Amino acid sequence: MKFFVDTADVAEIRELAETGLLDGVTTNPSLIAKSGRDFIEVVKEICTLTDGPVSAEVTALDAPGMIKEGEKLAKIAKNIAIKVPLTWEGLKACKHFTSRGTMVNVTLCFSAAQAILAAKAGATFVSPFVGRLDDVGQDGLHLIGEICEIYSQYDYFETQVLVASVRNPIHIVESARMGAHVATIPPSVMKQLAQHPLTDKGLAGFMADWQKTGQKII
Ligand code: E4P
Repeated sequence: MKFFVDTADVAEIRELAETGLLDGVTTNPSLIAKSGRDFIEVVKEICTLTDGPVSAEVTALDAPGMIKEGEKLAKIAKNIAIKVPLTWEGLKACKHFTSRGTMVNVTLCFSAAQAILAAKAGATFVSPFVGRLDDVGQDGLHLIGEICEIYSQYDYFETQVLVASVRNPIHIVESARMGAHVATIPPSVMKQLAQHPLTDKGLAGFMADWQKTGQKII
């Protein structure tokens, strides 16, 4: 499973990129607003921190506007994935870009029907939002299962399932079990993945016993 980080905070991206565990970055207009920085500048900087796909979202609502904005965003770097919403207009813009070899992430996917359309439009990634479905009392992970199952029936669907709106490690583990290709993860959840109380307890015990030996490795 590939790990993207869901943030526009370059310090956080840099720190995670240094671990070698990072495969890409996703941003959205809310994350750009949170960064307080100029959209183009911050995306340009993010593209220097990873060779993996960096999703940059259009803000026009009509296909011609999305195409115009996407063309500008695609010029930022080779690893830009144009992010378009899962609307009819977004699907038209998606087809435009993918048929020209530009990566597209179709975002705000909340149903299997929408995911089928994204695949038919040639999307590189489709982003089902698990956390936001959970928030309204629906089962976000069930949707991931449905999409993975449907996509696996057709070899000509090349779209990768990019699990988005991730809130906790269970979202990652269960999505990985279902074969989702990518998860975009907030930095705090990325760090949570490494944590277990028995790891901490075990390490403390080993260190206490090591002290008793009076030895040093170096
Ligand atoms: C995906 O690309 C979105 O940026 C993101 O995962 C949305 O997450 P949220 O529901 O936590 O805002």
